[in-house]
Amino acid sequence: MIQQKAKKFKEFIYGNGGSLPIHLSTPSLSSKDINNVVKELRKNNLAIGDSKKKFLDLLKKYIKSKFVLLTSNGTVSLYAALLADNTKYNDEVLVPSFNYVASVNAILSINAIPHFVDSNLNDFGVDFEKLDSYLSKNTIFKKKKCINLKTKRQIKSLVITHVFGHPCNLDHAKSLCKKYNISLIEDASEALGSFFKKKHLGTFGKFGVLSFNGNKIITTGGGGAIITNNKKIYEKLIKIIDNGKIPHDYEFVYGSHGLNLKMPNINAAVGINQLKNIEKLVQLRRKLFKKYNNLSSKDLILIKEPKFSRSNYWLQTIKVESKKNKLKLIKYLRGKKIMVRSSWKPLHLFNHLKKFPKMKMDNAVKIYDTILNIPSNLKSN
Ligand SMILES: Cc1ncc(COP(=O)(O)O)c(C=O)c1O
Repeated sequence: MIQQKAKKFKEFIYGNGGSLPIHLSTPSLSSKDINNVVKELRKNNLAIGDSKKKFLDLLKKYIKSKFVLLTSNGTVSLYAALLADNTKYNDEVLVPSFNYVASVNAILSINAIPHFVDSNLNDFGVDFEKLDSYLSKNTIFKKKKCINLKTKRQIKSLVITHVFGHPCNLDHAKSLCKKYNISLIEDASEALGSFFKKKHLGTFGKFGVLSFNGNKIITTGGGGAIITNNKKIYEKLIKIIDNGKIPHDYEFVYGSHGLNLKMPNINAAVGINQLKNIEKLVQLRRKLFKKYNNLSSKDLILIKEPKFSRSNYWLQTIKVESKKNKLKLIKYLRGKKIMVRSSWKPLHLFNHLKKFPKMKMDNAVKIYDTILNIPSNLKSN
């Protein structure tokens, strides 16, 4: 049965053209992108120059946010957000186990503690109901701080990830963070072009993070952004991503800890024209979802955007009935050079992360066992 389904997908993907092998998500570069880069190279504008301002202005306008900083990637943006939130040694940060590893590495790099939480089976984001019930039993307030009863450590923040571009329920995320007095950090790395109730993802939390890595819906080669709704935090972040420097005409002055996390101008040049076309790129992925969805059935489901949202459908996702069927599909399609991929293995299962606190984790494992990503921007869809 699953073999027949796999064959149908193979025929559909081959039918849509593209040369083998067919990858999950590839850059959509045009001659305009190349010209923009060449112009900056000719002017010697590699580290600094006008492209950064152009890219930043376009981004701010598109996501409707005043306080945005361009960085060298999504991972360091998460690091900078945690630092700007005063996350300290031994503070706990709630983070989904079903997740890309970047946020956990960012947490560990400042000697804080990842505290793993479970995801829901619909949009694969944090299961807020389960988390609320868990926190109500396992934490107390001390001087308005949320304290883990078992470890006695402060729970400082919650990282939520908008998985494959699909929005988490931000109403639930915000009310939970308010209830437990913890900061909300949105990892919207995969979600440029996605909205919840018409508001762009990454603009709901105290911090939001974007990635412009090579496989994302638009790319600057490597690159990222941090979004905040707070001017003071924005000013703090300016220093954090620039080695803690305080601007001065001719002296080197440092006021706090930081690193060089800034996006180079030449990377911004790669992204300008793609960013101008972001709506077109989102529509192509949405159209592809509809075509794939025609192939879905009871035992092989295409994952739809959640209610109240507009997803960029960055990665198209299939859900099957069992781990066995997932592996069969993956092996068959990869054998045909269609580079489908398993989703993330839950992070709490990795040896070096097993020791960290976690809630009971049923859904994360179920999700991992039954979903896979398939090519998401076929050239001629
Ligand atoms: C959910 C998520 N978070 C963080 C990152 C890290 O972004 P970057 O690769 O730009 O460091 C990525 C992607 O690569 C991601 O998919």
